[in-house]
Amino acid sequence: MVNLEVSIGSMKLRNPVITASGTFGYGSEFEDFMDVSKLGGIILKATTLEPREGNPYPRMAETASGMLNAVGLQNKGIDYFEKNIYPKVSCYGTNVMANVNGSHIEDYVGLAGRMNRLEKIPAIELNISCPNVKMGGMAFGNNPVSAREVIRAVRAVYTKVLIVKLSPNVTDITEFARIAEEEGADAVSLVNTFLGMSIDANTMKPRLSTITGGLSGPAIKPIALRMVWQTAKSVKIPVIGLGGIMNASDAIEFILAGASAVQVGTASFIDPLASVKIIDGIAEYLSRKGFSDIREITGLINRK
Ligand SMILES: Cc1cc2nc3c(=O)[nH]c(=O)nc-3n(C[C@H](O)[C@H](O)[C@H](O)COP(=O)(O)O)c2cc1C
Repeated sequence: MVNLEVSIGSMKLRNPVITASGTFGYGSEFEDFMDVSKLGGIILKATTLEPREGNPYPRMAETASGMLNAVGLQNKGIDYFEKNIYPKVSCYGTNVMANVNGSHIEDYVGLAGRMNRLEKIPAIELNISCPNVKMGGMAFGNNPVSAREVIRAVRAVYTKVLIVKLSPNVTDITEFARIAEEEGADAVSLVNTFLGMSIDANTMKPRLSTITGGLSGPAIKPIALRMVWQTAKSVKIPVIGLGGIMNASDAIEFILAGASAVQVGTASFIDPLASVKIIDGIAEYLSRKGFSDIREITGLINRK
């Protein structure tokens, strides 16, 4: 038996595998395929204070070894969430985390305050890195001053586990990780999607209505892995790694680079069982290599 348990702040996870926001819906979409309580955690799709329609279609396009999306944080807002989604997700038997978004600091603060009252949500992931909205999102996460401001304001009202999701569309992601740490975040998660675009040469039109969108999937893995490795060496708080993780061996690369936990995103679209297969694969790998605890290999490449 290997111990897969990890901690993110005061939150205990039975294993380090979390499903990434926007790629696992509210979890209920996956209940027919799997027992969601097997997961270390679920990060729900984006929530905002007010309902949002998201961007016009088309808002997804396949690319070489990946996909572009410009969903734009479509959701029905916190009132609907509290009444209709929260009662369902609070009985999943795993850590259910909310992905918190806004256009202004007050939106983030208002939403974080509401989430703080929801007993069965032990953590929020502060999304200051969405590339698909005109206001807010990446605009906060790409500017050290506004990143600090929004994290500080949310930390002042949110008393549970605060994870800050970082944008890879910056020159030095470690600068933003340090800001998150200084402002009292319990962890950082990285990466969100990379800003990209695609044009259909036949129709001579962009493939996304928004022209640009967020690139995810295996295409981004080497860059995400490099950023996780750099960040894990720069901060003391846990780093949650993601970006193109398709199987257990990809997840192990992130853990060896210093990630305390990982998120599975685009992979769930290809195989809804990807996340549970990754958990089993990590356990099998550890016992094959003679380790009894996942933490023995966290950041191992930096210790050699
Ligand atoms: C269709 C789609 C929707 C997404 N929606 C969100 C979201 O609402 N909030 C968020 O923080 N990230 C969102 N993301 C980004 C993912 O959570 C993840 O950071 C990114 O896809 C990289 O991981 P991956 O390569 O494993 O997919 C979305 C990604 C996709 C593909």
